[in-house]
Amino acid sequence: MAVLIIIAIVLVILLYLLSMVWPPDSPWSPWWRTSPKIARIQCKLAKIKKGDIVYDLGSGEGTALMIAAREFGATGVGIEIDPFRVLTSKLSIATAKLSSQIQIERKNFFDIDISRATVVIMYLIPKTMARLKPKLLKELKPGTRVVTFVYKIDLPMIAADEKNEVYVYEVPRKRIKH
Ligand SMILES: C[S@@+](CC[C@H](N)C(=O)[O-])C[C@H]1O[C@@H](n2cnc3c(N)ncnc32)[C@H](O)[C@@H]1O
Repeated sequence: MAVLIIIAIVLVILLYLLSMVWPPDSPWSPWWRTSPKIARIQCKLAKIKKGDIVYDLGSGEGTALMIAAREFGATGVGIEIDPFRVLTSKLSIATAKLSSQIQIERKNFFDIDISRATVVIMYLIPKTMARLKPKLLKELKPGTRVVTFVYKIDLPMIAADEKNEVYVYEVPRKRIKH
């Protein structure tokens, strides 16, 4: 029995280490996450305020949504495909007494309607963001801010913090052909 437990622990550690080389937006890659410091920079740069509805596509541990709700007064919707992160983010949100402001859904973000968003946050790789772009342009209202971290998306940029690799874009009034 003890041997089985040791094997299980070693396997978990190996998987955790292996996940360092997995693509950042695949489920089970715990190394790629937004810190509270970066989340604050994102909220300030995107001028998030009370009344904003922030969607986090691939919300992970819910860090950005919790900062946006607690410190900037926004409401949030997190879409996350990984059930483990859905569970842990819901627990953190409940512990922080933010459940009335933030809702987490276990879904694929390609399958949900994001038209209510006034701000969309995402920490995803360029390939995934390129696939999301037509959906953003189709569903989001003109003027909706889109915030990315580390990687950039091909939309009109309105603000940038190059040092911290935070970028803010605006959905254009005139739709871009795609
Ligand atoms: C790089 S992590 C970022 C997590 C969080 N936004 C943060 O910045 O800390 C990307 C997240 O996107 C999630 N994800 C990837 N593809 C997804 C999809 N199609 N639908 C929903 N979530 C997805 C992953 O499970 C992962 O939690």
